[in-house]
Amino acid sequence: MSDHVNEPLRPYNRKLIETSIPLVDINRESAREKSIRHGHPSTLHLWWARRPLAACRAVLFSQLVDDPSDTPDLSEEERERRRKTLHAIVSELAKWENINNHQLLETAREEIERSCNGKPPPIFDPFVGGGSIPLEAQRLGITAYASDLNPVAVLISKAVIEIPHKWSGRPPVFPGAATSRMLWPGATGMAEDVRRYGQWMCDEGRKADRVSLPESQAPRPHSGYGYRVDLGADRHLPESCLCRDDAASAILLAGQEGGQGALCRAYPCRPPGTLRNSRSANANVS
Ligand SMILES: C[S@@+](CC[C@H](N)C(=O)[O-])C[C@H]1O[C@@H](n2cnc3c(N)ncnc32)[C@H](O)[C@@H]1O
Repeated sequence: MSDHVNEPLRPYNRKLIETSIPLVDINRESAREKSIRHGHPSTLHLWWARRPLAACRAVLFSQLVDDPSDTPDLSEEERERRRKTLHAIVSELAKWENINNHQLLETAREEIERSCNGKPPPIFDPFVGGGSIPLEAQRLGITAYASDLNPVAVLISKAVIEIPHKWSGRPPVFPGAATSRMLWPGATGMAEDVRRYGQWMCDEGRKADRVSLPESQAPRPHSGYGYRVDLGADRHLPESCLCRDDAASAILLAGQEGGQGALCRAYPCRPPGTLRNSRSANANVS
């Protein structure tokens, strides 16, 4: 970031977002995104007030590319034509089907670089939540920094942004999985691990159910994991939310000795009201 701080200010060019953006297209794609379940980060973990990725992508692009109104050599007609070209890029960028359209993303990155003297500024999102803004910045080739008060938000953002990037192009580590195909481009290796280890956890959970449930109660498949975060000086969970036979152990997400801490305990998710040995009716089951 320091590179940018020390740079002399160049003459200011108005950005596209200050003049016009194709709002109808952006709104339509943002609304459509709500019903997209497959491959969307919202399916990884619920996060309240998650912003639509389509809107984040469109707004980031429009904030970084110059509007042609300050380009001296262009006639008014040429400026309008150029603006329409930029609008067309925004409209295409907003579409979910184009999130992996490399040609379109490359065009968008080139436009951003052209407007930013080849050095786009980094993005900072201090309230990252589910990670939408840095995720879309990453897609557009922009460095992003993010933070959040809530350690769960930070964990989700790491899972969406940092971890897939770190394991990109690598084969899965689950025993025997790596040889199931030749190439593991992008995050496919990591996704395979998530699938296989997820299945392994479900299988282990079912085995645990068989041991602890009376014969009359059929084992229920685990459909997800719930958690409860306890913020405060005392990092012990209140007894009310402990399940004696939960399959997963407590993990510490963040914390400091003697200060504020956040303890996250994961346990197999069951329909509300069926948590065995728990005196808590409102444990956070997602
Ligand atoms: C509206 S949500 C952000 C949603 C995010 N843009 C997304 O698309 O998922 C607001 C976030 O701000 C965080 N927050 C609130 N007060 C904060 C503070 N003082 N410092 C850091 N984060 C804070 C909350 O934990 C919450 O995750």
